[in-house]
Amino acid sequence: MTINEVLDLPGVRPVRRTGFGAMQLAGPGVLGPPADPDGAKAVLRRAVELGVDHIDTSDFYGPWTVNELIAESLHPYPEGLVLATKIGAYRDRQGAFLPLGHPDALKAQVHDNLRRLRVDVLDLVYLRHTVDRPGITVQDQLGALVELREEGLLRGIGLSNVTLEQFEQAREVTPLAAVQNAYNLLDRGCADLLDHAAGLGVPFAPFFPLGSAFVADSGVRGGELVRSIARRHEIEPTQVPLAWLLRRSPAVLLIPGTSSIEHLESNCSAERVELADSEIAELDALVAEGQAVERAG
Ligand SMILES: NC(=O)c1ccc[n+]([C@@H]2O[C@H](COP(=O)([O-])OP(=O)(O)OC[C@H]3O[C@@H](n4cnc5c(N)ncnc54)[C@H](OP(=O)(O)O)[C@@H]3O)[C@@H](O)[C@H]2O)c1
Repeated sequence: MTINEVLDLPGVRPVRRTGFGAMQLAGPGVLGPPADPDGAKAVLRRAVELGVDHIDTSDFYGPWTVNELIAESLHPYPEGLVLATKIGAYRDRQGAFLPLGHPDALKAQVHDNLRRLRVDVLDLVYLRHTVDRPGITVQDQLGALVELREEGLLRGIGLSNVTLEQFEQAREVTPLAAVQNAYNLLDRGCADLLDHAAGLGVPFAPFFPLGSAFVADSGVRGGELVRSIARRHEIEPTQVPLAWLLRRSPAVLLIPGTSSIEHLESNCSAERVELADSEIAELDALVAEGQAVERAG
């Protein structure tokens, strides 16, 4: 089966289906600078060399470090590179992500991202869905972003960490360029939202596509079925969950995160893996097994 190679971000531009998630370029716990800043910059440059035209980032990462690394390594940016950032939270000293939802604070975060990424216009800004004080609605928050879009400071508005209901409320305020929630081989909690967004032509960027760095691998990148399929195709086990996601829906936009050039190259090659329909069916059925393991544990 042939899969679509590009995906339109409505109001932004078409991008390749495999982008790059930049969160892993910060220090441990997504705090501070990485141990090897030059290595992190080399990963970014290699991503662009490989044809990656969509980088997912945020001022949250570091905080600020990752956006600075992106600007230092890639500015002036190649034509057509889409930078997608997120607003709606801040980090405390321990690294916790805390909500920041006042419309004025959101506008200030857009300006901070513009400055740190050294761009005049942000391609895509995701609102991380958080309402941190009574009386402020997601409509107020999105209204602030719509104003900035009308001023020409951003192109597309996306949503992150939302329910299907919140996604629908948001669509009453503005067309959406993308939605980003956790989703992977073993975490299918957002399947309804993914299918709903896909039906409306809104790309879905699953974060934690490889099961995340925050938890020991639960089987997404190293479970027995994943390993046996990888052996059959003579590929890396991590390419299996990525290839499965690309087949899951033509609306899926991959943003796997890595701090390693070797892993980056492997992740980008997952586009070329052709899983058999029977393997897709086995992987589809895995979620029941994964949930059973979780219950047993
Ligand atoms: N909207 C949100 O709230 C939100 C939340 C979290 C993340 N995100 C975005 O989503 C992106 C992806 O999520 P994520 O980075 O947290 O998790 P992920 O992509 O599921 O997994 C990253 C982990 O997988 C490892 N890895 C990556 N490629 C590998 C390979 N080929 N072989 C072996 N290990 C590999 C990485 O280690 P190495 O560095 O050693 O490769 C890291 O430990 C982030 O980078 C960020 O841009 C968004």
